[in-house]
Amino acid sequence: MKRWLIALFLPLMAAMPAFAQDGDATVKEIEKYRQALADGNPAELWEARGEDLWKKKRGPKNASLEQCDLGMGAGKVKGAYAALPRYFEDTDKVEDLESRLVTCMVMLQGFSYDQARKNPFGGPDVKSDMEALVAYVTSASRGIKMNVALKHPKEKEAFEIGKKMFFHRGGPHDFACATCHASDKQRIRLQDLPNLTKQEPAQRAYTSWPAYRVSQGELRSFQWRLFDCFRQQRFPELVFTSQGSVALTLYLAKNANGGVFNAPSIKR
Ligand code: HEC
Repeated sequence: MKRWLIALFLPLMAAMPAFAQDGDATVKEIEKYRQALADGNPAELWEARGEDLWKKKRGPKNASLEQCDLGMGAGKVKGAYAALPRYFEDTDKVEDLESRLVTCMVMLQGFSYDQARKNPFGGPDVKSDMEALVAYVTSASRGIKMNVALKHPKEKEAFEIGKKMFFHRGGPHDFACATCHASDKQRIRLQDLPNLTKQEPAQRAYTSWPAYRVSQGELRSFQWRLFDCFRQQRFPELVFTSQGSVALTLYLAKNANGGVFNAPSIKR
């Protein structure tokens, strides 16, 4: 691990209990814990709430989202997430799940753009409808292989932008995503840092989000994960549903192609 990384996380490492010093054993323990919890995953509560929200007539137009086209045709959710982000003709944009949901809430339900983007992430005092919808739609891709296409020129362009963002260094520490996520066997605070430029680890990481975080008592979406890594990287806030966030998502989703989607999952 690079010296400055160690410096940054030394206080946390020092605070770890003695048994945790044996990294590999601990990683195995966390894995066991994960498997034990997978039988009863609280993420199901978010999935159920999301399904209700999908079917409920809401907004100024009093319409449900059941006519929303996520890329597989109006109303079809099965397998949709495994092929997102993708290009949509009606908006002439590449959209990921979240930005597409916003599009549908605006076009079908008549919400304003700002209303549709409100509360992207839940917290102690905030229930996020967006995260519930994301849990519902992603759950309908369980067992399906990631198959993000790079056919349309705008999809290709987004991939290249996402890749540039991944390797772009900046901020007070001169960090890039690649600083923490482009080599093998890096680890911070017992957390394995997946090499997201390699197929197998990229697949494993991407297909495991959203996840119910036991430590936070919250369901967290992939967009939350990116938002939080921007924060770790000391970058300015990643604007929810921005073209940049979609491009970075597309880059990472494409790297995970072929991996079987298996989320919402559960993480420590
Ligand atoms: C300073 C180091 C650091 C930087 C820079 C960083 N991350 Fe992370 N990232 C982490 C850590 C630590 C975790 C694991 C956190 C946890 O599990 O609690 C993580 C987790 C992730 C995960 C989830 C992996 C999994 O297996 O679930 C993804 C995806 C990710 N980061 C993407 C990114 C992207 C994209 C960027 C650039 C915008 C980035 N990260 C920048 C430290 C970093």
